[in-house]
Amino acid sequence: LSHDQLLFLYNGIPYPTTFCSPEVFKALESFEARSDDVILAGYPKSGTNWLSQILNDLIDISQKKTPGREGSANAKELAEFPYLEVGDAEKYERMTKLPSPRFIVTHLRPENLPKSIFKNKVKILLLIRNPKDVATSSYHFSNSMASLPSYETWDDFFTNFTTKKVPWGCYLEYLSEWNKYIDKENIMTVTYEEVKENRALSVKNIAAFFGIPLTEEELQLVVERSSFQSMKKNSEKTHGPMGNIFFRKGGVSDWKNLFSEDQNKKMDKVFEELLGGTKIGKKLKY
Ligand code: PPS
Repeated sequence: LSHDQLLFLYNGIPYPTTFCSPEVFKALESFEARSDDVILAGYPKSGTNWLSQILNDLIDISQKKTPGREGSANAKELAEFPYLEVGDAEKYERMTKLPSPRFIVTHLRPENLPKSIFKNKVKILLLIRNPKDVATSSYHFSNSMASLPSYETWDDFFTNFTTKKVPWGCYLEYLSEWNKYIDKENIMTVTYEEVKENRALSVKNIAAFFGIPLTEEELQLVVERSSFQSMKKNSEKTHGPMGNIFFRKGGVSDWKNLFSEDQNKKMDKVFEELLGGTKIGKKLKY
């Protein structure tokens, strides 16, 4: 299938036809968020499966300590498919029946999220990653998924990535849109790189943000279960037979194996234009 068949435009942003539809986006507008929903926001390939693993375990731990609950209340539907904008239009009706806390992941920009999320001050963990590594991860992933556009060469992908013709739109614009929200008290920002550097510290901070007390033992458990090795080993169980493609390298700076000097300069220039001097830009310090 051609790129045009695999992608459709909604509010000027391309989305993959196999995962999203205009009907679902329309239905999403009236989605009622709950103040105790737990939301993870991150662009595709920024590490959303990783932080989902951490958040699911944290919710599970806190639920086990809640009288009458045996573990994560996240109903099967959301546990398997937590992506807010992916699914069918009846999904939101079914979500009204799920017990709290609902764990929700989204690749959307803030202006395309349902208004109730901000009105109800739902806590959002915003995950960001070096755009060059996101591009690198995305290139490899697109070429291993039949439902996403494939690219003959890296140069071909790079052109699409920088001209905004990729699923969920331009990552640098995504970051610049989220930068407008970064100071809100209900938003905590983490970088992929800082979680990579010190997972225990990140887990601690994330748990504190969501008000989940942790013993040292529980912290160690979450940390062990979210290592790249253990998630990759578990991937068939968690993501099905193709699961291993979600856990490719799990490192920092793999972009150096793909970017030419020219492409590197080009990306730095656009980064500077869109994010230079912004809080998000400084946090990324790549
Ligand atoms: S997706 O398809 O949009 O949901 O992808 P996403 O999960 O957001 O991002 C995939 C990248 O995250 C890496 N990953 C990890 N890195 C470190 N530690 C752990 N535990 C981990 N789990 C996933 C994954 O390997 C992808 O990055 P790349 O660079 O391609 O390896």
